[in-house]
Amino acid sequence: MKLLFIGDIVGRPGRDLLRKHLRALTASLSAELVIANGENAAGGAGITRDNAKEIFGAGVDVITTGNHVWDKREALEFIVDEPRMIRPANYPEGTPGLGSYVATSRSGVRVGVVNVMGRVFLHAIDDPFRAAQREIARVKGDGAQVVFVDMHAETTSEKVALSWYLDGQVAAVIGTHTHVQTADERILPGGTACLSDVGMTGPHDGVIGMDKAAVIARFVTGLPGRFEPATGDVRLHGVIITTEPATGRATAIERIALTEVQLQALTERASAAV
Ligand code: FE2
Repeated sequence: MKLLFIGDIVGRPGRDLLRKHLRALTASLSAELVIANGENAAGGAGITRDNAKEIFGAGVDVITTGNHVWDKREALEFIVDEPRMIRPANYPEGTPGLGSYVATSRSGVRVGVVNVMGRVFLHAIDDPFRAAQREIARVKGDGAQVVFVDMHAETTSEKVALSWYLDGQVAAVIGTHTHVQTADERILPGGTACLSDVGMTGPHDGVIGMDKAAVIARFVTGLPGRFEPATGDVRLHGVIITTEPATGRATAIERIALTEVQLQALTERASAAV
């Protein structure tokens, strides 16, 4: 059973790419469930109710988030009615929304999706290691045969440590947040697939998705400035994980990095085949 996880969707360029091409990509990969990190969907910071609707409408089954989840204040409200969108499980008790969700794949496999956030160079929230254990127990209690973890964190060490910590308990621990895809995918001895960072679905001609002139100016002058998403070289970054529902282990992991031209060709092939 294959899971497709899409790296951080940035702004309209990222959302448009999914709307146009995600169905053809999912079909070509025979993916049975699609998970995506959506915390930068609204202009690079946060996610609105309409953004979430659009992302689900494009064929995403579960949306994960991270440190930008509340940048659009309405997320505090709609996350309560929309359990398919989750936030890091290690936000303090009482935070709106949940840190995990159990979805059902196209062939009926129960998949637990867990979201946690690192604390190194990010908010000093609760311990992601213990929070992950708690949520894994929760989704398994709800019948999850396969468990996927999005570890939203700045440092590779924290992400790699969580992968080893959970090895054998979950099918995958995949990192998000840095927007730069790493090349360290592997399957640990216990059967947990991992990758330090899945990358970004959005414009790659900027600085991690944002317009480069404003970001450079911030670094050069130290003055505050408004960031807008970049526009060009839109790419989709993701990872496909092959899992074995009987054991909950991963058997394969493959990174995906596709340009708009490559995705367009997939979509044209798919529509010619109909
Ligand atoms: Fe982030």
